Amino acid sequence: MRLRRSRCLTCYWHDGTFVVHPHPHGTPTALHPAAAEILDAFEDWSTAAEAAEQLTHLTPDTVEEAVGALVSSGALLAHGGTAAHRDEEIAGRWGSWMPEASFFHYATQDVYDPPGAPSDGNPPAPGEVPAVASPDRAPGEDPVPLPPLFTEHPDVPLLLLPRRPAGLGAAFGQVLYERRTHRDFTGEPVPLETLAALLSAVFGPVDFIDCGRGALYRRTSPQGGSRQEIDAYVGALDVEGLDPGWYHYDGLRHGLELLTEGFTPAEAARLCAGQEWAARPAFLVVLAARLERMSAKYPTPRAYRVCLLDAGHLGQTFALTATALGLGPAQTGAFRDSEVAERCGLDNTGQVPLYVLAAGHPARAGRDAPPPAGVPAFGATTLLGR
Ligand SMILES: Cc1cc2nc3c(=O)[nH]c(=O)nc-3n(C[C@H](O)[C@H](O)[C@H](O)COP(=O)(O)O)c2cc1C
Repeated sequence: MRLRRSRCLTCYWHDGTFVVHPHPHGTPTALHPAAAEILDAFEDWSTAAEAAEQLTHLTPDTVEEAVGALVSSGALLAHGGTAAHRDEEIAGRWGSWMPEASFFHYATQDVYDPPGAPSDGNPPAPGEVPAVASPDRAPGEDPVPLPPLFTEHPDVPLLLLPRRPAGLGAAFGQVLYERRTHRDFTGEPVPLETLAALLSAVFGPVDFIDCGRGALYRRTSPQGGSRQEIDAYVGALDVEGLDPGWYHYDGLRHGLELLTEGFTPAEAARLCAGQEWAARPAFLVVLAARLERMSAKYPTPRAYRVCLLDAGHLGQTFALTATALGLGPAQTGAFRDSEVAERCGLDNTGQVPLYVLAAGHPARAGRDAPPPAGVPAFGATTLLGR
């Protein structure tokens, strides 16, 4: 039988053990690190005997035994088999996103019904998936303490924000269709009241619920398990009554905690990976996940997907709320992660930046606004792939 190493393969050490982890359908398997060398001999279709010829320091029996384990795990694929065909197809489709993106995607898929997992026949409680949510109490142990719901910086200056209700009376349909990403702004400062209204509507608690072990809070956006793992950090450039600098939005007290003074448009553009437009908004808002709030309840790595989805929900609510308040919203997935983390005082280990939002007074004829598509654009477009 001719075999080849799966193209969709990640090897790593976990708890001191070498693991060969093929995706999407392989089984993560703990093996001797020499397995990496054996896998290396299967770059192209080879028999075990041909591979053994390259591995002169290993006995043919050792190679044969390891090959058996690697075939069972899915790390070595048989020539002409459906698994090899699919492996080729996935490698082609994911291309330069491999291995990082495909590994994360496939290694965290289909986690709810692992093969052979017993089912108790009961549907999961609303919002909960018992197979992947950590138990509140391990047998014979005290409950795992839940991390604090809110982030605080007790030793920094606090500015309590105005609490006048936001002017959010604009018709929903109007807001929905008027929302656009803006990359040009008038430069007129944004009133502190407007920023305060935006922060409270998007990031502030709306109500508190009893999760059985204590309180959780909800926001205007849906958030996985209501863990509220995402904190908001404001980089103020041009907000009336707010010195330029970096602040943490304290949703519990509805205040801004001053983390570092000073912030310039040039730095904003730099943090946003050199995008010029990012120098023009009145403020940036960094969404950063405090991972323990999510992982304390959901130990499955799939929950990281939920953190990203949560950031997207907050981003959309931010964009709609900013629009309703007369601001122009923007957002970027391109930013210098480590520098953004440093600016927000995040350790970038347990608190990681995920998304950068921005807003300001929108310029009437936006410099970077894309023109409507005309006949030439449609002529150059494949509308339906057949
Ligand atoms: C997750 C995400 C990341 C984005 N990243 C960028 C970015 O890095 N730079 C940028 O100029 N626009 C970015 N945008 C804005 C999109 O280009 C914009 O949403 C798109 O062109 C559609 O325009 P609209 O928002 O006005 O509907 C991003 C949007 C989203 C949702």
